[in-house]
Amino acid sequence: MRPRLWHPFTQLRGFHPLGQVVAAEGAHLELADGRRVIDGISSWWVNLHGHARPEIAAAIADQARRLDQVILADFEHPAAVALTEALRPLLPAPLAHVFFSDDGSTAVEVALKMAWQHQRSRDPKRQRLVALQGGYHGDTLGAMSVGDRDVFTAAFAGMLIDVELLPFDGPAAAAALRARGDDVVAVILEPMVQCAGGMRMMPGVDLAALAAATREVGALLIADEVAVGMGRTGQLWAGAHAGLAPDLMCVSKGITGGSLPLGLTLASEAIYASFFGEDKRSAFLHGHSYTGNPLACAAALASLGLVAQEQTPARFAAYEGVYRRWFARLAAHPRLADPRALGGIFAVDVQGGGGYLDPVGRALQAEALRRGLYLRPLGSVVYLMPPACLSLDALDGVMQILWETLCAVLGTP
Ligand SMILES: Cc1ncc(COP(=O)(O)O)c(C=O)c1O
Repeated sequence: MRPRLWHPFTQLRGFHPLGQVVAAEGAHLELADGRRVIDGISSWWVNLHGHARPEIAAAIADQARRLDQVILADFEHPAAVALTEALRPLLPAPLAHVFFSDDGSTAVEVALKMAWQHQRSRDPKRQRLVALQGGYHGDTLGAMSVGDRDVFTAAFAGMLIDVELLPFDGPAAAAALRARGDDVVAVILEPMVQCAGGMRMMPGVDLAALAAATREVGALLIADEVAVGMGRTGQLWAGAHAGLAPDLMCVSKGITGGSLPLGLTLASEAIYASFFGEDKRSAFLHGHSYTGNPLACAAALASLGLVAQEQTPARFAAYEGVYRRWFARLAAHPRLADPRALGGIFAVDVQGGGGYLDPVGRALQAEALRRGLYLRPLGSVVYLMPPACLSLDALDGVMQILWETLCAVLGTP
């Protein structure tokens, strides 16, 4: 077979890319053949303020001229220090310490390993990781282990850590956790919205109940804010909807505004303290070549500046209002169910859908693209998560395109 580009999450037999993207600006992707399409999913939920923001591009270029990369094991550098300082007042209590990695999966791996090592040094009978059914935390082995057992993990069944998966129902999960007792290392969850698992939303009170049970059984709470953080849900951190006080928090995707990969694991004072001491063996012996990459840190700093100036969380809250105005019409369509929204995230299910592999997703994607909107449905779950640079009128226009797409593929009610 001829060597070719191996696309992620893709069966390459018979596959043809949707096009070649040669540029992007604001909410638009520009294709080599001249088409301009709206990036309805923020290029996998990373882009925050629109593509090619000059402030972020300038910060990266300026940093690249001064310091492109340096090992973070023996040195610090101004961009990493400044980012740590800038983040501190924004973090939910009790988080204070910042560990850098490369992306969402590595941020999760770091959190799991920190939780495990912390508990082993204090209470070694705790050997069980707990997560929620339907969750997704990344594609490295630890992150996959705490995700749902589904089409993504089936091929790797024998390689995964044995994890207790509780129902995606706060009170039921809280009861199961209490019944389980005191051997739990940590509970990891996506606050408020399970994104890859189908944009499933949990009420804040239910999430708070689960967090309280986690605290009661002495387990650590790991909030995976990789997808929902950075204002997407109308709060800077989605956990704020439920008053979450996590011991560890994972951040990536939107932290750089969607320009460069960067992962952060934020840890509480208590966790940091258990790694602090004379013996190197009690240190956190983990790192990646690009840990704390200066270009990514500079991009994140510039993006945080934009978050502050443009109040992205407030903007995403306004997006929710636009989505909600479409709910009655969507709910009345005989083939659609459960329109839902939180901040900048909107989703609706195609009734009787066959999950992630349902071909209706591809049909909807092709139809939307013809109409100038890029979507990537999760099988029968259709969703939007656009950059926050769209005006409210433009977002309403996106909903109009989405509605016309749904009617074209599923039939007009
Ligand atoms: C909640 C959550 N955690 C972790 C990840 C993994 O992030 P990455 O793809 O950057 O490794 C994702 C990716 O979609 C995610 O949605």
